[in-house]
Amino acid sequence: MSRPVHVALELDDIQRGVLSPRPTPYAATYLVFRVDDRADGRELMRRASAVVTSAADTVSPRGDTWVSVAISCRGLEALGVPRASLDTFAWEFRQGMAARARTLGDVDASSPENWEAPLGTPDIHVVLTAVAPDPRRLEAALDRARPAYDRLSGVTAIWRQDCYALPTEAEHFGYRDGISHPAVEGSGIAGSNRMEVPLKAGEFVLGYRDEIGGLQTPQPEVLGRNGSYAVFRKLYQDVAAFRRYLRDNATSPEDEELLAAKIMGRWRSGAPLALSPHHDDATLGADGDRRNTFLYERDDPAGFITPGGCHIRRANPRDASVAGEVRLHRMIRRGAAYGPPLPEGVLEDDGADRGLMFAFIGAHLGRQFEFVQSEWMNDGVFFGAGNTKDPITGSHDGVTGITIPRRPLRRRLTPLPRFVVTRGGEYCFLPSRSALRWLGGLQN
Ligand code: HEM
Repeated sequence: MSRPVHVALELDDIQRGVLSPRPTPYAATYLVFRVDDRADGRELMRRASAVVTSAADTVSPRGDTWVSVAISCRGLEALGVPRASLDTFAWEFRQGMAARARTLGDVDASSPENWEAPLGTPDIHVVLTAVAPDPRRLEAALDRARPAYDRLSGVTAIWRQDCYALPTEAEHFGYRDGISHPAVEGSGIAGSNRMEVPLKAGEFVLGYRDEIGGLQTPQPEVLGRNGSYAVFRKLYQDVAAFRRYLRDNATSPEDEELLAAKIMGRWRSGAPLALSPHHDDATLGADGDRRNTFLYERDDPAGFITPGGCHIRRANPRDASVAGEVRLHRMIRRGAAYGPPLPEGVLEDDGADRGLMFAFIGAHLGRQFEFVQSEWMNDGVFFGAGNTKDPITGSHDGVTGITIPRRPLRRRLTPLPRFVVTRGGEYCFLPSRSALRWLGGLQN
């Protein structure tokens, strides 16, 4: 399955946002458009193809500043992509995220009827994302992109979300994020775990062989090849509840930090328990070469160091023995914080909207994003832990908790409340640059 084969990825055709890690720190904006007029929508595609940079363009004078364009299935319909072509896209993509709510655990507070308007409606057509190292360069990138959608009366901007990654890369619960990335054959971009054999390009980019030798290419070829699926989700984080939970279940401030690490699998600095089991190690947390180079099975099969139920071991069990084939469920993941941080030490909610703009990129919506979300985040059967859920992002109902393996007695925490609530999102297609031009030239 993992024989290294030379694959020539057409990097100059693949959108920059697919494979390139984002800079640190950065500012980003999601802009969502509704297309009411097919001709204007196609003009938007034509203009966007000139603004979107490619994965090959990592040394442009614009440096770490780029714009990506993604389109939902309703968006492709609005552009007039023929039905026969739409039918060749992944089934989950054609359904759209709101229709997949039950599978994704988007129930109760997270259910689509409670989503932020217009998320979850058929109006989400085109999603433009701009990324830059700081707000000034972000505004410049948005200014450069503006001619793509300005003065098109049939295209309306209907939603905007600004987000950011701090220099510390801390997300709102206080952990360093943006650490673990898969290595992709032919991308020229190193993965963050030197022990991971690079994954086949077809796991992330459509039109290339994947880990099981399959080839997914929505048709026609010019539309599907060099594209990817992209999922964006706005996830609210109840920071005060998370902090109270840690405090209420810990015996001391040191124990609180240990619990926080056992829940995530990493200390707040990003240092993994696997490499620093007893205390945080800020130097390790900041060391891009070392902090993700580890496996689980040899030294920690039963999770005494990194619990099987913690966030990172659920999200990527690496070589741990679990039901299924881990390499078929990997993902490129980009997270950015939105909303103001809750000041340090505050345990009561201040009513502000804050959380994570989560983004997934991959070629297999079903067996990558949906599988991880439903089988690994919202169930525990795969590693023998019954119906337990991910402590960070599981759709908890106050019944199941987390068990931390420990000698002589395991440690069981009180049932977990739901700390993360889905505010909305969509399944999108990130077309290649030539596909953007093809969409712009549609004639029907
Ligand atoms: C608000 C919700 C979430 C928060 C606060 C969060 C936070 C984190 C943090 C701090 C890390 C460790 C840093 C890193 O490895 O880059 C991480 C890793 C990861 N998360 Fe999340 N996450 C959230 C939601 C999700 C969701 C919904 C998924 C997937 C459905 C997911 C999948 C992953 C994966 C695959 C990793 C890398 C694991 C590894 O390779 O070791 N996360 N997350």
